[in-house]
Amino acid sequence: MNIEQFRYSFDNLGYLVYSGSCGMAIDGGAADAMIEFAGSRKIRIKYVTNTHTHNDHTTGNADLLSKTGAEWIDCKTIRSDRLFDLNGESVRAFPTPGHTRDSVTFAADHFLVTGDTLFNGTVGNCFSGDLRAFFQSLKRLMAFPGTTRIYAGHDYVEESMKYARIIEPENTGIDDFLNSYSSDPVTSTLADELKANPYIRFNAPEMIENLKRKNVKTDSEFERFEAIMELY
Ligand SMILES: [Fe+2]
Repeated sequence: MNIEQFRYSFDNLGYLVYSGSCGMAIDGGAADAMIEFAGSRKIRIKYVTNTHTHNDHTTGNADLLSKTGAEWIDCKTIRSDRLFDLNGESVRAFPTPGHTRDSVTFAADHFLVTGDTLFNGTVGNCFSGDLRAFFQSLKRLMAFPGTTRIYAGHDYVEESMKYARIIEPENTGIDDFLNSYSSDPVTSTLADELKANPYIRFNAPEMIENLKRKNVKTDSEFERFEAIMELY
């Protein structure tokens, strides 16, 4: 399975996931660029979908649908794991509520398209208000192999690492993360995230020490996640 990243509106990132001549547009804000890329490689866009329904992610849907004849998959209808076939290969979509109630992640062989749930270097705001659901969603993503590539909904890498350094000034994982940053494509591995992204470092011994010094509850994973989200 292949993935091509498209930047639009300064820091938004959308994707064409494809196998052979068959593709799926996820957050197609860069509709024209996506259609041009697909055309040049003779890829038929079979599905158009989104990681969640915030406007900056759905803005390309109408254009893509009218210009390609693709089937629209409303991410709100993805309430449990669902497989999409692209030329005999599967993309798995599954709910990852937290940032919004309708947030979805797409997984294929070596990557995740995480929308505004997990960014490279940070996590999304918990606009749903359901922090426990957000935690469970992040736990599901963290269970993928460390080599899994994270393709997120925005490029927030530089701001995220400035903030990570305020939270964990001693963390050398932040330097490594910045050194491997590229703006095209913006991606990281899950292992990189676990070293540098403070919001999913609730099991890192250094982070646990950091939280203990703040006198917050640290007994359970969720308590530590909650403390990081509330403190920072
Ligand atoms: Fe969003």
